[in-house]
Amino acid sequence: MTCADLTVTGEQLKEAVGTFPSGVTIVTTHDGGRDVGLTVSAFTSLSLEPAMVMFSVASTSSSIPYLTAGAPVGISVLADGQGPLARQFATRGVDRFSGVDIIRRGREVPVIDGSAAWFAGEIVDVFQGGDHAIFTVAVRECGTGRGVQPLLYQRGRFHDWGSQGS
Ligand SMILES: Cc1cc2nc3c(=O)[nH]c(=O)nc-3n(C[C@H](O)[C@H](O)[C@H](O)COP(=O)(O)O)c2cc1C
Repeated sequence: MTCADLTVTGEQLKEAVGTFPSGVTIVTTHDGGRDVGLTVSAFTSLSLEPAMVMFSVASTSSSIPYLTAGAPVGISVLADGQGPLARQFATRGVDRFSGVDIIRRGREVPVIDGSAAWFAGEIVDVFQGGDHAIFTVAVRECGTGRGVQPLLYQRGRFHDWGSQGS
């Protein structure tokens, strides 16, 4: 495959970008007593001092109205074996939190119990980037699951450590 054409399609870009291995996170917020969450792999660190991270979400996402500047946010880095949770939080029309063990952090945001790492803080800025929105997050608290390996994601598949992918 080559991306040398004048017009790169979304599918071409997805195929090329998909070679870049990442982790998988669940981004959550807590709004008026209601928990909202979705699966996000477009997550990265942004700043050390002050502590900030960032993630991006499709503008068509139904979670966008809840992800506003100042909103509390939780980010859970899924652990090896938590692939089913990544699917659950990417499925529409289901209770995404059903059967999920959560711990409340920061301003009551739910984070996934047993995750490889978690961050809690609030959204600082929202920028438009093409058909996605980019969120910068001030991290107020974070932690890691000692000895817990993260779930790996590449080419649309989850890779447990040592596996061929699923
Ligand atoms: C492994 C995985 C990674 C994903 N990464 C992202 C992402 O980085 N950004 C995004 O907008 N959607 C991502 N998605 C898709 C959303 O989770 C999915 O579209 C979800 O339905 C959005 O929920 P909402 O419309 O209720 O907000 C990912 C899905 C999976 C399974």
